[in-house]
Amino acid sequence: MQSLSVIVRQKRDHARLDELLQQLEESRRHQEDDLLREIYRLVFPHAFAEEGVLWPVMRRVLPDGQALTLEVEQEHQEVNELVAQIDRLPAGDPERDARIRRLVEVLKEDVHDEEDVLLPRLESRLSDRQLQALGLAWEVVRRTAPTRAHPVVSRRPPGNTTSALPLSIIDRSRDRLDAMASRGTRPQAARSASQRLGTLATRLEHVPLFTRGEDPSTSRT
Ligand SMILES: [Fe+2]
Ligand SMILES: [Fe+2]
Repeated sequence: MQSLSVIVRQKRDHARLDELLQQLEESRRHQEDDLLREIYRLVFPHAFAEEGVLWPVMRRVLPDGQALTLEVEQEHQEVNELVAQIDRLPAGDPERDARIRRLVEVLKEDVHDEEDVLLPRLESRLSDRQLQALGLAWEVVRRTAPTRAHPVVSRRPPGNTTSALPLSIIDRSRDRLDAMASRGTRPQAARSASQRLGTLATRLEHVPLFTRGEDPSTSRT
């Protein structure tokens, strides 16, 4: 793994997200679900690793780190809530379309807040070597983090970090099952196994340990 700074790694993902959001805005109905799935696979591990690795460092090194990180955690929570709602609504439902439009808005706001405010502040406080070390830590967590919406777990450690491993195993198994189903490999069995795992993940999210550390403004209402 190269020794890239956390800033470079963040901007790379943000640029990819920008491309996908553009494609989503120009897409036709039948392409929508595939694009949304690709956006979720990019956004959730990225954000989980921010919440578990980056924002705790910002709170330690910046005097106003609490307020700054809380704002992006609120955006992340809204993304989790919106995706959970989108997944429950049928394609073509006007409510679903409205939530997808709001999702695009919040994701763009989150990227702007990070690129214009948070990341430059972090860059001004840490050395190049520290930014590289942080980049590596963030990347390792990002590659092993959950890939789906989990609106009930804490957006802050320790709940965020303790829930990451079990939820990630479930999410990534579901990703493989869903891919099997869309390739036509025992589609019904794969789909129902994925749904059962989804129910298990929803139950796990409520384990009290996984909601610990939450700020009231980002807890599920
Ligand atoms: Fe980011
Ligand atoms: Fe973010």
